[in-house]
Amino acid sequence: MTLKFTIPTQNARILAVGAYRPPRVVPNSELVERIDSSDEWIQQRTGIQTRHWAAADESVADMAVKASRIAISRAGINPQEIDTIIFATITYPYQTPSASTEVAKQLEIKGAAAFDVGAACAGFSYGLGLANDMIRSGSAKYVLVIGAEKISDFLDLDDRATSFIFADGAGAVVVGPSDSVGIGPTTMGSDVENRDAIAMVPSWIDYKPGSDLTDLAWPVIHQEGQKVFRWAVYEVAKVGKEIIAKSGLTPADIAAFIPHQANERIIDSLTKSMELPDTVIVARDIRTTGNTSAASIPLAMDALLAQHPDLHGKNALLIGFGAGLVYAGQVVELPPLPKN
Ligand SMILES: CC(C)(COP(=O)(O)OP(=O)(O)OC[C@H]1O[C@@H](n2cnc3c(N)ncnc32)[C@H](O)[C@@H]1OP(=O)(O)O)[C@@H](O)C(=O)NCCC(=O)NCCS
Repeated sequence: MTLKFTIPTQNARILAVGAYRPPRVVPNSELVERIDSSDEWIQQRTGIQTRHWAAADESVADMAVKASRIAISRAGINPQEIDTIIFATITYPYQTPSASTEVAKQLEIKGAAAFDVGAACAGFSYGLGLANDMIRSGSAKYVLVIGAEKISDFLDLDDRATSFIFADGAGAVVVGPSDSVGIGPTTMGSDVENRDAIAMVPSWIDYKPGSDLTDLAWPVIHQEGQKVFRWAVYEVAKVGKEIIAKSGLTPADIAAFIPHQANERIIDSLTKSMELPDTVIVARDIRTTGNTSAASIPLAMDALLAQHPDLHGKNALLIGFGAGLVYAGQVVELPPLPKN
């Protein structure tokens, strides 16, 4: 028997964004001695000048809660109206229960669906795509999508390929009902040929079923920098073009480009390869934030809107990409000017 249920078609949009950057600012000069590098080299190769690190007693969930409170207040809704929490992260140190349930508990949101997304630096765009599809199909009304990381807990400060790249922070958006289409179709995918290019080592390299788990060391992040760089520049540009076309738009219809903040040279190359016009405002939050994985897109969105208030309500292209290798992106209407 067929289900007696008519699928609603409810449009969705980002209602508000919130961000939290831990107060401690770490300049390149604090990191260079251990990796035989220099402030100049790091700025030239990545664009990074400074980044934020969380305090020892500040958890990734604590940061997520701070960003979420801002997003919920700006959306002008009651926290109890949130019926779904999607938390994208790779640095919540527990397999279970999930980071999203810790946020629900801290925010005293009762009964909400709560789950985590493990898609590394693409996690926020995966979560946003899921939120959009849930609202459109009637499974949710107000979805809190969080990207938050405390990567400083998983850094090898002697590793020349990572210590200066990754950092901490949290961003969150409230996605809710809209009269018009505020989030375009999400493109999601993977390139598992390059699965080993970025990894938390030794977690997956050393572990085999039957291993003595007590021998495993605390995992730290490693990457093959050049491999990731080449993949991002060539493959992610194709994904970006596909996202714009799927939305029924052309590059001229895009007001802002908010890619994952991995490396400023990757951002420049993507902007050029996708032939985005000079009128497009490009997020370069990496300079003072570093690479915060799943947090980077909502953090960059918040910073861009603070710098360019005229972008509220305009179209932005979002693309996340990272370990897996995985990618996801969509065109969104940026949130309206906050109510609060
Ligand atoms: C990590 C990264 C900055 C390294 O830059 P690179 O130009 O690829 O560096 P290479 O490893 O090819 O080394 C080039 C030279 O710089 C030197 N070098 C490498 N790391 C260095 C460092 N941290 N400081 C100073 N010199 C360094 C090397 O010794 C080498 O010197 P040589 O030419 O005299 O032999 C770059 O590969 C990168 O940003 N990749 C993408 C990373 C990324 O975005 N990851 C996140 C994806 S989500």
